[in-house]
Amino acid sequence: MPIISLSSFKGGASKTTSAICLASLFCDDGATLVIDADPNRSATTWARPGGLPFQVCGEKEAAKLMRTQKFEFIIFDTPARPNDVEVEDLARGCDLLIVPTPPDLLGMDAMALMAKSLPPDTNWKVLLTMIPPPPQRDGEEAMSALKTQGYPVFSRGIRFYKAYKDAVTSGVPVYKVRGGKVAWRDWTEIKNEVIQAIKG
Ligand SMILES: Nc1ncnc2c1ncn2[C@@H]1O[C@H](COP(=O)(O)OP(=O)(O)O)[C@@H](O)[C@H]1O
Ligand SMILES: [Mg+2]
Repeated sequence: MPIISLSSFKGGASKTTSAICLASLFCDDGATLVIDADPNRSATTWARPGGLPFQVCGEKEAAKLMRTQKFEFIIFDTPARPNDVEVEDLARGCDLLIVPTPPDLLGMDAMALMAKSLPPDTNWKVLLTMIPPPPQRDGEEAMSALKTQGYPVFSRGIRFYKAYKDAVTSGVPVYKVRGGKVAWRDWTEIKNEVIQAIKG
């Protein structure tokens, strides 16, 4: 039962979006649970209309749910700005820590700070998100900067599409909304890489 956690120092980095999309991706392979550990409860809000093909529960509900049901994948969505102790707990409590960041200076700086506070044996990877469309080159530039600096990074990022906001509003996975199939391709293309990364 692999556990994937999403974390970033910065808010609005696409943690919740990534958690829901990863769960939408993995629930095809087995029962998947998203644990919403953010007091803002964004993942819970997304799930409320009932259109997601997996369960979302609160942090305090999780233990009991996991006793009564068998899950193949656990995805942890967390609040921004964790302190050092929380980062350590989080890193030790999962098989893979994914740190999503938009390809901008504030996001990348926050990611670098988080990298410093991770225990040295953490299995983690950066996911570039909200990559603006061409001719903007922010995504490519951030990717090459990350690689040059030796950060573990997924080989492709997640592009910016309005479909993500629409998916929250409708309470469904992104592939279900208009324009969402194109957005969804980014996730299907990194699926194998996520599986490889879980194995460490
Ligand atoms: N790839 C993307 N394209 C467009 N909008 C996105 C994308 N990823 C996230 N968003 C939007 O950005 C905002 C913040 O994303 P969210 O997942 O809630 O971040 P976090 O959980 O890190 O605070 C949300 O409104 C979300 O719909
Ligand atoms: Mg969130």
